[in-house]
Amino acid sequence: MYAFFNKIMLNEETIKNLINEAIIGRKNSYSPYSHYKVGAALLLENNEIITGCNIENAQYSLGVCAERVALQKAISKGEKSFLAIAIVGGREDEENEFSDYAFPCGACRQVMREFVNKNIFKIIVAKSINEYKIFTLEELLPFSFGKENL
Ligand code: THU
Repeated sequence: MYAFFNKIMLNEETIKNLINEAIIGRKNSYSPYSHYKVGAALLLENNEIITGCNIENAQYSLGVCAERVALQKAISKGEKSFLAIAIVGGREDEENEFSDYAFPCGACRQVMREFVNKNIFKIIVAKSINEYKIFTLEELLPFSFGKENL
């Protein structure tokens, strides 16, 4: 399966590699309360990959999602051009194959909305490196609110 952005092609090898990085990133998940581990891997235009995992807190509302950790790591390094994010999630007893797709929560979709081109950026949700679905942010967050509205 191929997905195109501008002139850059996201080929199957790139997708599988990104999912694999999300699986690796997930290993650092700190989720003693939900026991639900999430990993994300963000692909930059320069081909660099930045991973994230969910990080919970005894004050439950301070927990942060894997997607936002990856994005905020990247933003804090001065990165501005994002091509795609792969996301995997599942109970802590799951490792490389997950029973469900982990879709980004509404808050993470809105944070992506701030920093990515909603028609180009790809969101890859995966059950394994061989089973995945690809969406644009526009598909997952239609009729959205962004800086152009202000
Ligand atoms: N979680 C994420 O990391 N990303 C999402 O998009 C949905 C939820 C995390 C937050 C919390 O640590 C755990 O999954 C259960 O909600």
